[in-house]
Amino acid sequence: MTAKLLAFAGSTRNGSLNQALLDLAVKEARARGAEVREIRLKDFALPLYDGDLETSAFPPAARELKALFRAHHGFLIATPEYNGSVSGVLKNAIDWVSRPTDGEPLTALSAFRGKVAGLMAASISPFGGLRGITHMRQILGTVQTLVATEQVLVPFAHGAFDENWALKEALPAQLLGGLAARVIELAERVQPPLH
Ligand SMILES: Cc1cc2nc3c(=O)[nH]c(=O)nc-3n(C[C@H](O)[C@H](O)[C@H](O)COP(=O)(O)O)c2cc1C
Repeated sequence: MTAKLLAFAGSTRNGSLNQALLDLAVKEARARGAEVREIRLKDFALPLYDGDLETSAFPPAARELKALFRAHHGFLIATPEYNGSVSGVLKNAIDWVSRPTDGEPLTALSAFRGKVAGLMAASISPFGGLRGITHMRQILGTVQTLVATEQVLVPFAHGAFDENWALKEALPAQLLGGLAARVIELAERVQPPLH
């Protein structure tokens, strides 16, 4: 099988260090044979999650994003660390996508259950976004997604990329390749359901 991966970053700003890191991971995954669809969460007009909105008019953008998640075996996710956790943009997207649609039971988690994920983070701090990525593991575990043990942290990320958005140090670049390889391997072994 060809691993189908959906890639996205939790930062929407131009010049995002996490987007740059994700772009490199996508290249590594494609070089290893995965079919990768890279999306920008900014392109999905997601309102803040609101249970009233969910029951009255499930937002089309949330439905569209959920359909994309359902159509992929796994995810490559770059998460910025905001105040020791993941960004609100990322959590809000996951919250919407986790919700049942079309008569699914509450616990269906059809966009996440049995899927696989690889995580990375770029942060300006010496800790490289470790707290955010750890929260991300917990969130994905809650929605029944298997997260690769490998992860890539880029500390002092404001100085980690050259003018062409390549990583200056060899080690994180090498780790990105390992992460991509593991996510593909997991997808092939687990063969997560596509809908
Ligand atoms: C609201 C906010 C909170 C932040 N909190 C943290 C933090 O807890 N730890 C950290 O390492 N960096 C923190 N930062 C700095 C980010 O690491 C930095 O802005 C980084 O460039 C964000 O990722 P991006 O370049 O992909 O947008 C914070 C930034 C913002 C805007």
